[in-house]
Amino acid sequence: MGEPGRLLAISDLHVAYEENRRYVAETLRPESDADWLIVAGDVSETVADVEWALDVLRQRFATVVWAPGNHELWTPESDPVRSRGEERYRHLVAVCRRLGVHTPEDPYPVWRGAGGPVTVAPLFLLYDYSFRPAGARTSAEALEIAYDAGVVCTDEFLLHPDPFPSRDAWCRQRVAETEALLAERDPELPTVLVNHFPLVREPTRVLRYPEFALWCGTDRTADWHVRYDAAAVVYGHLHIPRVTWHDGVPHHEVSVGYPREWQRRGATPPGPRRILPRE
Ligand SMILES: [Fe+2]
Ligand SMILES: [Fe+2]
Repeated sequence: MGEPGRLLAISDLHVAYEENRRYVAETLRPESDADWLIVAGDVSETVADVEWALDVLRQRFATVVWAPGNHELWTPESDPVRSRGEERYRHLVAVCRRLGVHTPEDPYPVWRGAGGPVTVAPLFLLYDYSFRPAGARTSAEALEIAYDAGVVCTDEFLLHPDPFPSRDAWCRQRVAETEALLAERDPELPTVLVNHFPLVREPTRVLRYPEFALWCGTDRTADWHVRYDAAAVVYGHLHIPRVTWHDGVPHHEVSVGYPREWQRRGATPPGPRRILPRE
């Protein structure tokens, strides 16, 4: 009999920062051979960095489940891999498959350890500018307000939606495709929904710059934790680690964040959060 294991989650490893890279290289380890690790996006910006981190983690954890963040989908000058948008996403999926890491394009794995069985569903949904600031009637008006306030996510310059005409068009396509995949899951099992962006808007209400919510999700997923019988939701992106409850479902923000952020809270980054069994 092995140990029962835990379903753990972390996000926003941002390993381009030396302190964060060292945390992954030296510290981020399972407690038992049966532990799974969910990695909810923003591993890094270059394909080589993402591959390095997921490879290290895959060798330590029984199973690794990845959902892309916005940073993985950037095409930065520093990356010799020049692919953009959908092509870049597919390239990352191919890298993960080679490493044995689960992606949103693979059959959803089932966690059968303590607190299971549950279907662990990594999602790639992006955002559609529907988390609008007060007074904006359309996404165009909302973006104008944000640009005027000087709050503009770097995605606008580095996250290319090719071949889609816009990031929100890509989001609509991802939501539709994902709904079809979720409809095929085992209806007997609850889910753990994993997305880089929050599925509900509420956690974005505490952002220091409220306009930034435009780049944080979509209203289209507001009821997914109920609709898909979620035992838990896992997300990151906000760099505001905490748990909020919506309709009785815990939504875990599991980010590490930038060194300047986690160093305010302690000498080492926060470890992976336990999703199941529940605390
Ligand atoms: Fe991040
Ligand atoms: Fe992010």
